[in-house]
Amino acid sequence: MKDEHPAAEDRERAVTDEVLASFDGTGDPRLREVMLSLVRHLHSFAREVRLSEREWETAIEFLTRAGHITDDRRQEFILLSDVLGLSMLTVAINERQEPGATEATVFGPFYVDDAPEVPLGGDIARGAVGTPCYVSGQVRSVDGTPIGGALLHVWGADDDGFYDVQYSADHSAGRGWLRAAPDGSYRFWTVLPTPYPIPHDGPVGDLLTAAGRGPMRPAHLHFKVVAPGHRTLITHIFVAGDPHLGDDAVFGVKDSLVVEAEHHPAGQAPDGSDQQETWTSMTYDLVLVTEGAR
Ligand code: BEZ
Ligand code: FE
Repeated sequence: MKDEHPAAEDRERAVTDEVLASFDGTGDPRLREVMLSLVRHLHSFAREVRLSEREWETAIEFLTRAGHITDDRRQEFILLSDVLGLSMLTVAINERQEPGATEATVFGPFYVDDAPEVPLGGDIARGAVGTPCYVSGQVRSVDGTPIGGALLHVWGADDDGFYDVQYSADHSAGRGWLRAAPDGSYRFWTVLPTPYPIPHDGPVGDLLTAAGRGPMRPAHLHFKVVAPGHRTLITHIFVAGDPHLGDDAVFGVKDSLVVEAEHHPAGQAPDGSDQQETWTSMTYDLVLVTEGAR
């Protein structure tokens, strides 16, 4: 079979070789390395699936739709990377494995830079609807040293499964930043996370449907923890027992990040506050890798 089409194979190989050679003059050696590998793998992929012209057009239409739906508040290309597992693979490639360190997971598209400061023990929900949840723990280094003053950015969806920015650009709720106490301890109120679908009314949603995959993410709360001398940690805590822990649309779940949410009747909370309704609590220590450590 192979010998029957040597000319076709040669033609295909010649295209790849010509494109590879076109990057010979790339000044930045890393860009050259990345582009040569990208072209090699992209061409191999097209050869392997024997890409038809109609399929090529479908792919271009898909990417065009992704571009059109992307704006300041919607990033379809990150969603695509997420559902293809590229985001989690990149996390895995770059994460420094240190015994005892908190594992990282996807950043997601809903972090905003200018979230408000919330005092230690304050409420980041700020009007987000849901069951009150008291979250506490300690920020420390892998060697056990508490990281007083560590900066914690926290964000989560409300009980309806929406982030504030999905309502409107200037709506702010369910997010905030605070500093850990001198002993590294932290605490704040928010709402108990619930499972929610990633935005699935665009081309990425259509891809999930065509693949028979769901858009759901298990309930989680996002953290970005920043401390001098430490690698910034981007992670979530997931709520134990969530039905979607096994089929997260973006492959973000790690067992070490799954936390039990305790349910409590109305009454006094650990911060002395008097809770009028049922409330919940989660405890999780955030352990950072020292910068420069191997
Ligand atoms: C999130 O957890 O906020 C998220 C992550 C990936 C895609 C969509 C949402
Ligand atoms: Fe999220």
